[in-house]
Amino acid sequence: MTKVLVATDKPFAAGAAKQIKAVIEEAGFTCAFLEKYTSPQELILAVADVEAIIIRSDLITKEVMDAAPHLKIVVRAGAGYDNVDLQSATAHKVVVMNTPGQNSNAVAELALGMMVYQARNQFNGTSGTELFGKKLGIHAYGNVGKHVARIARGFGMEVSAFDPFVSKTAIEADGVTAIDNVDELYSTCDYISLHIPANASTKQSIGFDLLSKTKKGAMLVNTARKEVIDEAGLLKWFETSDSFKYVSDVAPDNYDLLKEKFGSRCFCTPKKMGAQTSEANNNAGVAAARQIIGFIKQDDTTYQVN
Ligand code: 3PG
Repeated sequence: MTKVLVATDKPFAAGAAKQIKAVIEEAGFTCAFLEKYTSPQELILAVADVEAIIIRSDLITKEVMDAAPHLKIVVRAGAGYDNVDLQSATAHKVVVMNTPGQNSNAVAELALGMMVYQARNQFNGTSGTELFGKKLGIHAYGNVGKHVARIARGFGMEVSAFDPFVSKTAIEADGVTAIDNVDELYSTCDYISLHIPANASTKQSIGFDLLSKTKKGAMLVNTARKEVIDEAGLLKWFETSDSFKYVSDVAPDNYDLLKEKFGSRCFCTPKKMGAQTSEANNNAGVAAARQIIGFIKQDDTTYQVN
């Protein structure tokens, strides 16, 4: 019988896990969970007899695939699949999928929530500022970026976006100004919300040169990946600017230093929590389960990324 492993170091909400199990069992498969594991070895041991794995930010390395001789498919319940060794998956004839759009609203709500939190001086009781009338630049207009735009327009923000992979017409249909130059986005906006994936061409791409284009008092909000930030460049820009702010759902490695030197101008959540809502867990987890069933029963490769 096909065995599906749900391997989530950061577990899904209990209701979502229950729903995922029900969908898998209804298809006639068995479902096992490995949650809150503390070493890669635990994952390696758990994959020996599985044909499919559902993961979140869990690392699927060559070692994991070497230990899983029956593995056919890995579904990342979420958007970014930079945690999966795609080359090795392809070499092992393992299909890798993501579940685009399923957790995007949760991430977008967190991005706006972080903007409010920082604009209101981290709720310390002093006078802050409002989002209304401020300029928001969205860097990458994918599923999360679109939700950010919708919510930000509700706040009364002036929204623009830069995304070389999305047409101007599609962006402007949402009431968002399309900007065709990334420097212009960074130099004209009060808030910049980052939604680029982490890949070979984006890693460390946000550094001193781009940050030094930002307006006085600008805030960069990163609910994407820490790897897209050039941390030395971020530090250098903090040292140069007296008003730049950085809030992130993914703390940089030099976070302690940034906190020590620049205090509340830098704030990161203690644990990545953009997609941590029961709705997002349910949407992404159940979509992942259904994609596995579709692939195993009908060879459906929609959302395959390798
Ligand atoms: C994603 O890529 O979907 C998000 O970053 C969410 O990641 P998570 O499932 O590890 O919370």
